Amino acid sequence: MGDPNRRTILITGASGGIGKQTALALAEQGHVVIMHGRNPGKTRQAREWVVERSGNHDVHAHVADLSLMSEVSRFAAEMRSRYDRLDVLVNNAGGQFGGDREVTEEGHERTFAINTLQPFLLTSLLLPLLERSPSARIVTVSSESYRQAGLPMLDDIELEHHYTMVRAYAFSKLYVWWLMRRFDARLKASGITNVTVNTVEPGAALTALQRDSLTKTPFMLPLLILWLPFMRTARHGARTSVLMAASPTVEGVSGEFWGNRRPKRIDTKWVSEEGERRIWDYCEQACESYLHDGSVTAD
Ligand SMILES: NC(=O)c1ccc[n+]([C@@H]2O[C@H](COP(=O)([O-])OP(=O)(O)OC[C@H]3O[C@@H](n4cnc5c(N)ncnc54)[C@H](OP(=O)(O)O)[C@@H]3O)[C@@H](O)[C@H]2O)c1
Repeated sequence: MGDPNRRTILITGASGGIGKQTALALAEQGHVVIMHGRNPGKTRQAREWVVERSGNHDVHAHVADLSLMSEVSRFAAEMRSRYDRLDVLVNNAGGQFGGDREVTEEGHERTFAINTLQPFLLTSLLLPLLERSPSARIVTVSSESYRQAGLPMLDDIELEHHYTMVRAYAFSKLYVWWLMRRFDARLKASGITNVTVNTVEPGAALTALQRDSLTKTPFMLPLLILWLPFMRTARHGARTSVLMAASPTVEGVSGEFWGNRRPKRIDTKWVSEEGERRIWDYCEQACESYLHDGSVTAD
């Protein structure tokens, strides 16, 4: 019999920053760790780094550009064919871009694609694998920045007419939190009790996240210099993800937003049933052609 405490954990965006540190901490705890990255060489090196530091050889590397929903779908199929079950999904991959609106080759605003649409589709497509676990967890990395751009513009979700870098990032992180609240509510309503869904924020951590926004947005460099003394290491930024992914102390906790290893109180002005429904419907429609394998999106 295997160790029941040994979980199979997928971490997206584990080739650098907070994701790589999350992978290391969970490998050190002895779990089976699946590290996703975008760049094959960087992801392979990150895996070798984790294996060497943790002494855990049950660490695997997989590659996909998750800003494309076609790739999210291919990657989810790869996970389903390779692994019998998943105990934990850490939706960590994310990005922040420049002052000019960019779209992916599938036509989605780039920040929205990687930070919002992607975790929606990946979570939907991996639910069948998670449901096979006796006790599964979905942990999604949002950001305190969700409240940095005022109330969202639900008539222009992909910011065709109102794009700024700050809005795109803030709204993408608010929307992904809303989506996770909805996954939680839908799972509970379907009587699925073995999968929990929580959102976390890592605090400000010194990583490569701002590399695009720094070079392409004039005010970012002075802002970052001001922020530097308050920024923590990526290892510190990973602490809440690690806790929510594997600690027995939060077994059964679901539908919450955590930061600094504690539940966060969210001002009710950021909670909107109507907003959640509109974002969910929008994502469902945008991903329609990929949502066929066991998603919980159908009413
Ligand atoms: N750092 C902070 O202060 C902070 C604060 C709040 C929230 N967060 C959130 O924390 C998460 C991790 O960010 P980080 O700070 O660790 O940044 P990071 O160092 O840039 O790491 C981001 C990870 O996501 C991957 N990624 C980005 N775009 C991708 C794509 N299109 N397809 C596949 N993988 C992609 C990156 O791959 P590459 O290695 O190929 O770039 C990398 O592995 C993000 O969701 C971020 O929004 C960070």
